[in-house]
Amino acid sequence: MENSAIIQINQLIKRFPMGKGEFTALKGINLNFGTGEFAGLIGPSGSGKTTLLNIIGSLDTPTKGEAVVLGKSISKLSAKESAKLRKESLGFIFQSYNLLQVHTVFENVEFPLLLLDYTTLERKKMVMDALEWVGLTDKVKSKPPQLSGGECQRVAIARAMVKKPSLVLADEPTANLDAANSHNILQTMLNLNRELKTTFIFATHDEKVIGYLKRKIFLKDGLVDQEEWMNQ
Ligand SMILES: Nc1ncnc2c1ncn2[C@@H]1O[C@H](COP(=O)(O)OP(=O)(O)OP(=O)(O)O)[C@@H](O)[C@H]1O
Ligand SMILES: [Mg+2]
Repeated sequence: MENSAIIQINQLIKRFPMGKGEFTALKGINLNFGTGEFAGLIGPSGSGKTTLLNIIGSLDTPTKGEAVVLGKSISKLSAKESAKLRKESLGFIFQSYNLLQVHTVFENVEFPLLLLDYTTLERKKMVMDALEWVGLTDKVKSKPPQLSGGECQRVAIARAMVKKPSLVLADEPTANLDAANSHNILQTMLNLNRELKTTFIFATHDEKVIGYLKRKIFLKDGLVDQEEWMNQ
């Protein structure tokens, strides 16, 4: 565990309504993350990776138990408080990119900054820096329907990292990227992790991502099955 805890998860249970009954996706997760971790949730399809990331990101709430993120208990936040947490401190890379289809690459990446107090000039610099990280400065004026899947994924990564949030949650961020782009982007993420102490939590099956992780958390059937820490 590095430094102070940024996330504390205690006996977390998540049930979803299913037909007349319920489906238990998370069955009692206990995990702590320190500031500056570069960690990944690994596990078969359906093991609960996205469900857990969504709760950490305050996009969903626990059924039982607790998730405390940056000192805030997710189940106790009002809609307004959880929106504030997301806008100020979190960057998301979703399994489906969630880009605004009628807006340009520039506007998509700029979007999280519009909710914060930056000038037009500051925003422009930040957006161009983020597009540089993912190698897309030549596509600023394109719109998502004109981009390849991998390019959309890179826009989503730039959008998540543009404000240099303290916590980035990345759900299969390299699923549509070729090896060269995956390695470039992981290197960029590692740089942010080293320089700014940005905490990264991935959900992934990708061996390329897994190779970069400093901590591997294996999920199985809604539970933590095993953990591994790598030497730096
Ligand atoms: N809103 C929902 N309603 C009902 N069941 C759900 C809901 N969301 C997820 N589940 C179920 O919870 C389980 C865990 O889903 P989750 O999306 O977390 O898996 P995952 O590990 O991210 O899988 P993948 O690798 O395929 O993305 C799955 O069996 C899924 O069908
Ligand atoms: Mg998933």
